[in-house]
Amino acid sequence: MVKKIGIVGTGIMGNGITQVAAQAGYEVIMRDLEQKFIDRASDTIKKSLGMMKEKGKITADEVNQVLGRIKTTLDLKDVATSGAELIIEAVPEDLHLKKEVFRELDEICPKETVLATNTSSLSITVIAAATKRPEKVIGMHFSNPVPVMMGVELIKGRDTSEETLELAKEVCRKMGKEFFVAADFPGFAGNRMLPLFANEAFYLLWENIASAEDIDRMCKVLLRHPMGPLELADFTGLDTLLSVLEYLHKEIGEKYRPCPLLKQFVAAGHLGRKTGRGVYKYS
Ligand code: 3HC
Repeated sequence: MVKKIGIVGTGIMGNGITQVAAQAGYEVIMRDLEQKFIDRASDTIKKSLGMMKEKGKITADEVNQVLGRIKTTLDLKDVATSGAELIIEAVPEDLHLKKEVFRELDEICPKETVLATNTSSLSITVIAAATKRPEKVIGMHFSNPVPVMMGVELIKGRDTSEETLELAKEVCRKMGKEFFVAADFPGFAGNRMLPLFANEAFYLLWENIASAEDIDRMCKVLLRHPMGPLELADFTGLDTLLSVLEYLHKEIGEKYRPCPLLKQFVAAGHLGRKTGRGVYKYS
């Protein structure tokens, strides 16, 4: 049974997973490369818990208990030796980087530790092959914002064991998340659909078919999506969307070719909310 969870990478996804894990009662240790990333993640978690407290979803005591269950470190060895039965990697969506993190974790973690990746599209089998424990490697693809979104996609690599899948299911249940099991194919299930939709929205904008506001409003009004695809791309990060599309384009084919306008936004450093500017401007 999992009692402690390690999180590697404290960006949007890493800090969200840390928060829901601590809220579920797990002891959590989160790691990043620099103190400023840890500080930003801790602030985000405090803000999110504060929001929940204001809405009466959680008490002040519970907020303190949740925060008390979270430890932070700059050293991957602290995560490996923390006693965490499960470590969830949430570093940027770069296959080389993820393989490197898994190779290192495999070297320094006890042999029974399960290693999960939050990748939204990269092959679990390829990431697992960087370790000597592919049966203990699994994909746990959370959705942003993690404290609010109710689903997790679970992906078995070629050698992932049933035991590992069961452990991931148990953790999802304890976090109050629904899970969906998908095959290990680029993009899995969720990210085969969503980037295609978002990319088409960028093409509509690029071809001057409709304004950004109207594209988003249309999806909210006509399709009842909570956010339009361009707003959502800003929310998730245009760089993340582009890297997913580039990977799917390479692996699956033409229909995922990234829109030149999206590439332009990323080249200009307009990555969405996190940089204060993407399709829209943020104060
Ligand atoms: N922490 C805690 N609570 C939060 C929160 C956070 N970070 N963000 C929002 N909330 C709560 C609010 O307090 C509010 O609570 P209430 O219903 O009790 O009043 C509720 O969530 C709704 O929030 P808001 O009223 O502030 O704003 P919205 O109604 O616009 O909701 C949203 C915000 C939840 C982000 C909603 O717009 C939404 O669901 N957007 C779509 C998100 C989505 O599609 N995510 C998937 C992205 S794809 C992905 O993650 C995969 C990746 O691999 C790329």
